Amino acid sequence: MKPIQVGLLGIGTVGSGTFNVLRRNQEEIRRRAGRGIEITMVADLDTARAQAVVGDHAKVVSDAREVIANPDIGIVIELIGGYGVAKALVMEAIAAGKHVVTANKALLAVHGTEIFAAAREKGVMVAFEAAVAGGIPIIKALREGLTANRIEWIAGIINGTTNFILSEMRAKGLDFAAVLKEAQRLGYAEADPTFDIEGIDAAHKATIMSAIAFGIPVQFDRAHVEGITGLHAADIVYAEQLGYRIKLLGITRRRDDGIELRVHPTLVPSKRLIANVEGAMNAVLVQADAVGTTLYYGKGAGSEPTASAVVADLVDITRLHTADPNHRVPHLAFQPDELATTPILPIELVRTSFYLRLQVADQAGVLARITGILAERGISIDALLQRPTDPDAHGTTKTDVIIMTHETVEGRMNEAIAQMQALPTVLAPIVRIRKEELN
Ligand code: NDP
Ligand code: HSE
Repeated sequence: MKPIQVGLLGIGTVGSGTFNVLRRNQEEIRRRAGRGIEITMVADLDTARAQAVVGDHAKVVSDAREVIANPDIGIVIELIGGYGVAKALVMEAIAAGKHVVTANKALLAVHGTEIFAAAREKGVMVAFEAAVAGGIPIIKALREGLTANRIEWIAGIINGTTNFILSEMRAKGLDFAAVLKEAQRLGYAEADPTFDIEGIDAAHKATIMSAIAFGIPVQFDRAHVEGITGLHAADIVYAEQLGYRIKLLGITRRRDDGIELRVHPTLVPSKRLIANVEGAMNAVLVQADAVGTTLYYGKGAGSEPTASAVVADLVDITRLHTADPNHRVPHLAFQPDELATTPILPIELVRTSFYLRLQVADQAGVLARITGILAERGISIDALLQRPTDPDAHGTTKTDVIIMTHETVEGRMNEAIAQMQALPTVLAPIVRIRKEELN
């Protein structure tokens, strides 16, 4: 059988990795797919750079629409990124009856519903293993490997840049800004690292996992998103003294009244495996009723690790493209007419434990007032730590009070924090970090 012909849109970091892996392992891949898979046409704005990557093995053009219009191309890979031209090209490829592979989590988290509906109508597949946790086959695991289970929750380190920054802050005792500069120098963080450090990239990925785990539409606009820009080195140290590490987690959890979908810095017990995932690595923990807890670990980014997932999608499509569309694995794991309308809960209704740090005047009765405010709202204290800090310029003696609470509803904690913040003896903005036991 003749090889299936593939068109590649965007041959940057992931695109060049995809081209190279596919060529290097072409014989193994052919034996697995039952047919050769060849990238025969590549579109990139920088045609000279693209030509240097592909040599004479593929035709290079500057206009992506030329690739889509080529009737010999059966699969289009979109590796441009973003919601703009990438969305238009994906929709055009689907309309032209091409199967699509993409690593574009931003596009799917925001426009997934529209894209999957268009693909269903045309009977084509949209595959996106690389969109979540790069080289880790977590989409395959959630959609197929765990299909017997009722998934209860997922918690993942799904952004390598921020995990690298947090690891360095802990190891070197540095503040966020200093480590960000280092991450940029090493090429981990981009010149504009906003999506990474503000938690947006992780929220795109958590949104996609949430849809697949619970059979709901992708709803990025309902996700609660907090990044790591406000984290202080002091909190990483205090957390460690209490037996915890701080990780930026993407969390989605099924509850009786709805689904939690959130990204925020989180205290995790140091003894958990996921707390020990360091540097730019990713890890996803899944709790499901039959299998229990499973953990998926690996590289969440990079040229060839991400290409590994892109090529896996190419193999899947090559094996399945002649199958009846109704017999393929549904995009979001559940049959499209079986998607649930379960609401995503607002953050005020989320239940977690909390780490609080209050800088207070070191006076009699201060602690009693603070614990009183928590008690009035039924918020139970789990642990408490008091650490003196240096006196200020006026010689006022201050102390850091660190409180770990048991689980409570976020809305109730908001009220307590507002009331504590208003006390004249609370001298700085209260730091609040959510805590998850993940057991
Ligand atoms: P790059 O910026 O390295 O590559 C994108 C390429 O697309 C560039 O060569 C760019 O050219 C080209 N391009 C831009 N506009 C067009 C256009 N209109 N037509 C054709 N080509 C165009 O991005 P990455 O490879 O890093 O990322 C690609 C996708 O993969 C993104 O969606 C990203 O989120 C996702 N992803 C990336 C990972 C990674 O490790 N990098 C990991 C997981 C997912 P030029 O440079 O000239 O603008
Ligand atoms: N910017 C992302 C990260 C790349 O740091 O994990 C992979 O999506």
